[in-house]
Amino acid sequence: MNSSMNILFIGDIIGVPGMELVTNLFKGIIEKHKIDFVIANGENAADGKGIEENQAKQLFDLGVHVITGGNHTFDRWDMKKVYSSFKNLLRPLNFPQGTAGFGYTIYELASGVKIGVINLQGRTFMQPIEDPFRTADWALGKINEQTKISFVDFHAEATAEKMALGWYLDGKASVVVGTHTHTPTADARILPRGTGYITDVGMTGPYDSVLGMKKELAIKRFLTQTPHKYETASNDVRLCGVIAEVEVETGKCVRFEQLIFPKF
Ligand SMILES: [Fe+2]
Ligand SMILES: [Fe+2]
Repeated sequence: MNSSMNILFIGDIIGVPGMELVTNLFKGIIEKHKIDFVIANGENAADGKGIEENQAKQLFDLGVHVITGGNHTFDRWDMKKVYSSFKNLLRPLNFPQGTAGFGYTIYELASGVKIGVINLQGRTFMQPIEDPFRTADWALGKINEQTKISFVDFHAEATAEKMALGWYLDGKASVVVGTHTHTPTADARILPRGTGYITDVGMTGPYDSVLGMKKELAIKRFLTQTPHKYETASNDVRLCGVIAEVEVETGKCVRFEQLIFPKF
């Protein structure tokens, strides 16, 4: 292993179209960008609502090392057992104590290099859960006993909350990415103390949609102010991710790039 490693993060994978695109592009991206480690957000992999065992297995088989989640994680009731039996299938760590599954993991590659991955969820305009800031401190303490390399998926609605966590963890985490809003932001950068940061990676799914949902249904929701059944859209499918180069010794991010394919 060189003194640095390349980590690929794939934004919220939406249903069958997202899964298919990831499957088709995966090998090419890994080879082209010399990727050592892959994290993917899978909270929408099962037709937009949560993830099932078969999608989790499909992603792990493909070469994804860690899958993160979010507010849709537990949309599938029967997933609680699955979450507790896969230690690299994460749900946000700051859910209340006693929630099924794991919120962070330390993955050891064959080379002996370890990467800590933390999944957190925001509290602004979302359900009230534990403090993601102090929870991040706690998990980073655990991870730093074993490795300097740490990656945070902060699944949150509010830009301000995401940015605040990015600054709060600057120099403490290698990378902080935002997920959940399904729309990539143009602020990928390395903060002054060496943390790669982006407010939202964007979704890997159909952009001929409203955040992955058939646009006609989404418009109806707003016109009538009543709920409509979610249906995943299918056209204009893009993969949105980031690639972070992180120094193994220091855990600092030295290169941080957005990956959108095909480009808008
Ligand atoms: Fe999502
Ligand atoms: Fe979400």
